[in-house]
Amino acid sequence: MSAPDLDFDQVYRESPLVPWVIGEPQPLLVELESAGEIRGDVLDVGCGPGDNAVFLASRGYHVTGVDGSPTAIERARAKVADLDLEFEVADVTKLEGFEDRFDTVVDSALYHCLDDDEQRAYVAALHRACRGGATVHVFCQAEQVAGLPGPRVISEQNLRDTFAGGWRITRLRRADYTTVMTRDMLVRMTEQSLDEVRFDDSGRFLMPAWQLTAVRA
Ligand SMILES: C[S@@+](CC[C@H](N)C(=O)[O-])C[C@H]1O[C@@H](n2cnc3c(N)ncnc32)[C@H](O)[C@@H]1O
Repeated sequence: MSAPDLDFDQVYRESPLVPWVIGEPQPLLVELESAGEIRGDVLDVGCGPGDNAVFLASRGYHVTGVDGSPTAIERARAKVADLDLEFEVADVTKLEGFEDRFDTVVDSALYHCLDDDEQRAYVAALHRACRGGATVHVFCQAEQVAGLPGPRVISEQNLRDTFAGGWRITRLRRADYTTVMTRDMLVRMTEQSLDEVRFDDSGRFLMPAWQLTAVRA
């Protein structure tokens, strides 16, 4: 089943293990923050249960997290404590009520959940939600390895086309998106060899990803 067909709220309610919920901020995002690439008012789109947003708020940014899943947002809100952080249920293809609000957007594994029409609507909605000069960071699946089920595979051309109008792409490179899946779990999901599959030092599957950075014109 591909991501556009997934009922995310059902996944959050019923799955004992959610592949992208690693219980800590996404290492790619931690790198970006350390490099000084996050600034101002931050939108975490498709924030899930909020670990990336909580991390950024703990680093001193004002963060808004949005997700279409009420269950994910309820879990995220439970982590707010006294941080400068809010979570809302919202459809990222519309982002109504968020116009001209953000300096940085973090899209950690959201883009590859959308079909072509949704991607175009989403990037247009982001354009409305961002201030001039705002920066968007996208992490999305670049390649399917070992026949493993997962979200849509996104081509370089897809990203270049979707961000062609109103954005300037300043970085588009291959990267690793860290999941919670271990080798033992993957063995049960595919009959293909895992020789080409990479894992981090903690044994977590590294999904081959794109890291895109684009600046709003
Ligand atoms: C693969 S998860 C990534 C969650 C989180 N960003 C992370 O990296 O752990 C994708 C998230 O996008 C959300 N999502 C998918 N389509 C959406 C839409 N149209 N509007 C809002 N959220 C959406 C899902 O509910 C899910 O939480």
